[in-house]
Amino acid sequence: MPRADYIVPESWLTFQTNLRYLACMNQEVITVKHAFTLPVGTPVVLRGWVRSRRDSKGITFIELNDGSRFKSMQLVVDNGVIADEILKQVTTGSSIAATGALVESPAKGQAVELKVSQIHVYGTADAASYPLQKKGHTLEFLREISHLRVRSNTFGAAFRVRNALTHSIHSFFQERDFIYVQTPIITTSDCEGAGQMFNVTSLNVNQPPRTPDGTVDWPQDFFGRPAYLTVSGQLEGEIFALAFSKVYTFGPTFRAENSNTPRHLAEFWMIEPEMAFYELEDNMRLAEEFLKYIIRYVLDHCREDLEFFNERIEKTVLSTLEHVAESNFGHITYTDAIGELKKAGKAWEFPVEWGNDLQTEHERFLSEEIFKKPVIVSDYPKDIKPFYMRVNEDDRTVRAMDVLVPRVGEIIGGSQREDRHDVLLQRLRASGLDEKAYWWYLDLRKFGSVPHSGFGLGLERIMMYLTGLKNIRDVIPFPRTPGNADF
Ligand code: 4AD
Ligand code: MG
Repeated sequence: MPRADYIVPESWLTFQTNLRYLACMNQEVITVKHAFTLPVGTPVVLRGWVRSRRDSKGITFIELNDGSRFKSMQLVVDNGVIADEILKQVTTGSSIAATGALVESPAKGQAVELKVSQIHVYGTADAASYPLQKKGHTLEFLREISHLRVRSNTFGAAFRVRNALTHSIHSFFQERDFIYVQTPIITTSDCEGAGQMFNVTSLNVNQPPRTPDGTVDWPQDFFGRPAYLTVSGQLEGEIFALAFSKVYTFGPTFRAENSNTPRHLAEFWMIEPEMAFYELEDNMRLAEEFLKYIIRYVLDHCREDLEFFNERIEKTVLSTLEHVAESNFGHITYTDAIGELKKAGKAWEFPVEWGNDLQTEHERFLSEEIFKKPVIVSDYPKDIKPFYMRVNEDDRTVRAMDVLVPRVGEIIGGSQREDRHDVLLQRLRASGLDEKAYWWYLDLRKFGSVPHSGFGLGLERIMMYLTGLKNIRDVIPFPRTPGNADF
């Protein structure tokens, strides 16, 4: 039904008639993206949000965007075709349906435009208070209006890229016989062993039941013991890998690390493949093939959006992506990387010493200055890596691998897993973890254990790499960071 405040009911009737006519032609809901592929003369109804409106010599030009592609459709309204009462409601931010025919466009940069015969206004947008007027806004400002920023060029492009990227990730694994497994979001084990987990409880946090010695009586909680939001689906992924051989998870993960940086989120999406019979070298090969595949896919399917990022956000996006899709990744061990970093003789903020973890400044230096492309660093000291990584012969390092890329630093972390029961048990104990909680994980090493490996790609980290956007808050629809869970 038309809205009560809708001004010209008569034109609504013709509009409905038109819709029915187009429905018969199987074209009732067509996107701007689709319309650009149709021949001149095709009658269409387009619906979307007005990006801008300009009047010149009695003709009104409207840029209509429906999110289906970067480019908006130009609507041309000749003098007198649409009643003034309606046309004046067509302002930036308003939502409309426009009926008309596609005609050749004299304007450069577009083959067709829509010559309008009917307009229906769904919702107006007050020009004085609609925050997304034509002028450029800062990304910081747009972050405060996440409910509207998706209608801007930058975020439209970012989330179309994110969509294509997601699709390519599933395609890559599906084409290679990987089984997609949905690992749980609520868990009782700490995969990374780093204690950065969010508690999940149904207890009254103001007055939790207590044991006689004053500690919280967890057996009375919903799950009968402390539970958390998962930091990684890896451990459950391993269960599946030891039955289905090649699997992957792709879901949200959560970290209560209080780091307010442009690269960390409290809620982020991770892709974690896990493969039985893969050693570290196979794992590295897969990670490289995977990254190249998804980069190539996005280059091939999101050209228009990437061109925007290349022009407006980061001048090197297209050239680096093209380069990466074709070249081989570098490879260096952690020990050699420390050597290189020391040789560089730079004044590091964080000291370079064998045994210290690599920080973003080191990761970026390795990939940007030394290799000038993505580089895989392997065999890190065991004391800075989680308990599940396979210990090397030297007993000082583990079969770990991180993929580092220019501009972003670490985008992938992975390893060959410790498949020896006795060594794993020892590592669990040394890490101060409760071995009883990991009984099933240890069991996998008792019953048909095999060498296996896997890795985790941070979806938002690869998004930063693809778009050139420098703050991770701008590549996830609704960022969760310390002190912020709006929207
Ligand atoms: O290196 P991480 O911690 O590895 C794991 O979680 C393993 N369980 C993965 C595996 O082997 N299956 O995290 C993997 C990736 C990082 O390389 C990074 O891209 C991303 O996840 N990541 C984050 N992204 C955004 N915000 C955070 N706080 C992140 N922490 C990790
Ligand atoms: Mg890591």
